[in-house]
Amino acid sequence: MSISELLEQDLQQATIPESYHEEDPAELEERVWSIKERFGNKLYMPGHHYQKDEVMQFADDRGDSLKLAQISASNKEAKYIVFCGVHFMAETADMLTGNHQKVILPDLRAGCAMADMANIDQVRKGWKIMQDTFGDTILPMTYVNSTAAIKAFVGRHGGATNTSSNAQKMMEWALEQKERLLFLPDQHLGRNTAYDMGIPLDKMAVWDPREEQFECEGNLQDAKIILWKGFCTVHDKFNVNHIEALRKKHPDINIIVHPEVPWEVVRESDYDGSTSTIIETIENAEPGTTWAIGTEMNLVNRLINENPDKEIYSLNPFMCPCLTMNRIDLQHLTWSLDKLAQGEVINQITVEEDTAHYARLALDRMLEMS
Ligand code: 13P
Ligand code: SF4
Repeated sequence: MSISELLEQDLQQATIPESYHEEDPAELEERVWSIKERFGNKLYMPGHHYQKDEVMQFADDRGDSLKLAQISASNKEAKYIVFCGVHFMAETADMLTGNHQKVILPDLRAGCAMADMANIDQVRKGWKIMQDTFGDTILPMTYVNSTAAIKAFVGRHGGATNTSSNAQKMMEWALEQKERLLFLPDQHLGRNTAYDMGIPLDKMAVWDPREEQFECEGNLQDAKIILWKGFCTVHDKFNVNHIEALRKKHPDINIIVHPEVPWEVVRESDYDGSTSTIIETIENAEPGTTWAIGTEMNLVNRLINENPDKEIYSLNPFMCPCLTMNRIDLQHLTWSLDKLAQGEVINQITVEEDTAHYARLALDRMLEMS
């Protein structure tokens, strides 16, 4: 959803009563537990790893973007899915669940800065220029961190979605279908994955949707990958100086980052992977080892608390949580559940059927291969 669409939704969102901010959080927590118990398996609450602990404690399942898409697709019994994550994840859940199921996002303002960097008008315009430049040689592929409209565009053109945990497999598949690949909207995940596959930087072009022009170190006609010039405003805050400073202070430190960080940061790190890979790596690490993690701060703090036998730092000592993930707080969660308990559905996410049909083509191609 673009910023203007989000602002419009913002105006449409019923306003949370002030009383929720005045109530004792312990009472709100008690209400959430009791409503969950009352609804049983008719209510399902998945939570992304970047959610705050005050919300995550209620999650029926925790996951990275791939797992959340998979479990949404397989859950048939819940009538209400209260999604603890951001807008594009709730849209995906709506498209992958049945008509008898309703997806609720406790605060409609929980968007994603990266997803906002590609709107469908820009994509259509850019695609036309790409077709004029390269002919019919490009398969579009989108990171799930994108609007349903962009997923539908990709689905219509034979492409698929991907997440940080299957990006390489999906890129390999895409390059078997067509000579070139357009990767939306995260240039860093696209560049990091393509480089791991052995594609050199001079075979990657960047499409700047604002300037409506390509940037390319090599010959543009040789480009295998066209990267959309988008990025995550959270993961963009890690740089090589952070790594150098930590290695100087802790010579034995292991550095693990999410592949949404810039290319040069991944190159200087020891490991990279999705949120689930980061969690698994830290949990399986030897006690007494030292780690720096380059990802969102709610997750880093949770890993620090849950792994007291390891010394863990944030790669950037001044890092903040993702502000849009943090929109889902105890107050908004309780409010949406209170309303459900009163028989009212607020903040429902629905994707119009034509868009959902084509977006599902892109999502299903990914899910079949994952
Ligand atoms: P994953 O959990 O799939 O690694 O995604 C990270 C992210 O930025 C979600 O917004
Ligand atoms: Fe979007 Fe980045 Fe926040 Fe994930 S961490 S929701 S990609 S802004």
